[in-house]
Amino acid sequence: MSERLVIGVPKGSLYEETAERLRRAGIDVPNDAGRRLAVVTPDGRAELLFLRPTDVPAYVEFGAADCGIVGKDTLWESERSVSELADLGFGKCRLVVAARRSDGYHQGVRYPTFLRVATKFKRSAQSYFSERDVPCEIIGLHGSVELAPLVGLADVIVDLVATGNTLREHDMVVVDDIGTTTARFVVNPVRFRAKYDALLALARKLEEA
Ligand code: PRP
Repeated sequence: MSERLVIGVPKGSLYEETAERLRRAGIDVPNDAGRRLAVVTPDGRAELLFLRPTDVPAYVEFGAADCGIVGKDTLWESERSVSELADLGFGKCRLVVAARRSDGYHQGVRYPTFLRVATKFKRSAQSYFSERDVPCEIIGLHGSVELAPLVGLADVIVDLVATGNTLREHDMVVVDDIGTTTARFVVNPVRFRAKYDALLALARKLEEA
């Protein structure tokens, strides 16, 4: 790898494993990004941009980053055009429809005529319910989504489940699985042609690491 690569690195829950994979691929990533926005690695081979996970696709599409690591769930939500080169396997979560156990939707109780759905994943939720002809209102939230059915804001949620602890603790259950998400290595399609060898080599190393 001789050309410098600009890499979008997600802060938050994917950071630690992303940093570990990049290190094993020979890129010197700090243990903690802290409040830094960007760093050039000591050997000068890479510039790391520390980004909100949901912003990675925009940086990559517009070429501010050559490539990045991002969850498949973020790609489902994003309208950005990036190319997915590798499934890195970590950060595995299920995107599900969930509800209060007492509502019985998981046991076949019919949804209300006009379903209220609270979620951070508006696009995925809308397409899931549209495909099933379920009339619904999607209520966009930014966090603590499990609270919505408990206080009457929504009938169901569409959210990520990792350990299942959050649902269990709130006496909620999965009604249906929408999909499984893992971290992906994505590239800007034009940069991929220009830096083909370097980006392909990095994809392979990240997969192996
Ligand atoms: C995510 C997700 C669930 C929780 C699931 O939230 O939205 O709330 O993790 O994890 P579990 O199945 O292991 O309990 P996050 O931690 O990102 O916080 P947020 O609710 O503020 O988005």
